[in-house]
Amino acid sequence: DLSTNIAGVNLSSYLMNASGPKCTTWEELEVIGQSASSAIVTKSCTMAFREGNPEPRYSDLPLGSIQSMGLPNLGYKAYLEMVPQLKALGKAVVVSISGFSIEDNIEMVSAFQNSDVDLIEVNFSCPNIPGKAQVAYDFEQVETALAALTVLGDKPIGIKLAPYFDMSHFIAMAEILKKFPVKFITCVNSIGNTLIIDPETESPIIKPKGGFGGLCGDYIKPIGLANVRAFRELLPESVQIIGVGGIKNGVDAFEYLLAGADAVQIATCFEKEGAVCFERIENELKAFMAQKGYTKLIDAKGKLKPL
Ligand code: DHB
Repeated sequence: DLSTNIAGVNLSSYLMNASGPKCTTWEELEVIGQSASSAIVTKSCTMAFREGNPEPRYSDLPLGSIQSMGLPNLGYKAYLEMVPQLKALGKAVVVSISGFSIEDNIEMVSAFQNSDVDLIEVNFSCPNIPGKAQVAYDFEQVETALAALTVLGDKPIGIKLAPYFDMSHFIAMAEILKKFPVKFITCVNSIGNTLIIDPETESPIIKPKGGFGGLCGDYIKPIGLANVRAFRELLPESVQIIGVGGIKNGVDAFEYLLAGADAVQIATCFEKEGAVCFERIENELKAFMAQKGYTKLIDAKGKLKPL
């Protein structure tokens, strides 16, 4: 039994898709709805439809992927209108919001507060819009935004964080989060602004931003684990943590559980393998836990043993 709970919403399993790949159109979201993913998480939306960045803007890598999609999405009103059909697929619906200003985010969060979505994940960490900084690295802006966004309704709000690399940043962000009724955090987003060079062509392998893009997959698993672990130790138990970064098998998912994740999201592996990954990883996690005598998530959650 891998059932879990995020911000009062019961989920039938520990695994769901991450906002990112294959979750932009109704057709893609319907596939997630028919899979073993325990929720349907939508692509981060903006005020208006966006084509996104020029191609090539995604590349598989041996140990993950690099992407600079540039927020291609249908515009928030399309997702708002889709909510009833998404809910009819029978699982929790998580909408991801990624406005370009606090005003954008206020408008979008307000709209989804008046909808049937289960959870609202505000994305403070898109690294791929030329000229736009990642909000998650501007602590003052995070605080201002949370003050405005957490008073718009009763539906639980969570935030998608960028990866942090210094203990002082974990501590400072945790102190800000504790000031507001943020019900869950999702960490981590891709590591922004990394560069993969093809030595044969002597060029970057993706086109936008001179080749700079978000690094995903196995490369970032130790970073995701550290972020989940650090925030688990710094935040009260009433704040749930969704782990993301490099989960492609049951053992990866188990490591995030030990670090303290209440649920996990899958991006690169879903992009590469398709929606069958959710059932495969769920079965692998169940089998690995069974070998250890664990039957429920709580048996191992957060129980990383000191060395
Ligand atoms: C995109 C990438 C991200 O890592 C993110 O958080 C949001 C959007 C993108 O390029 O579309």
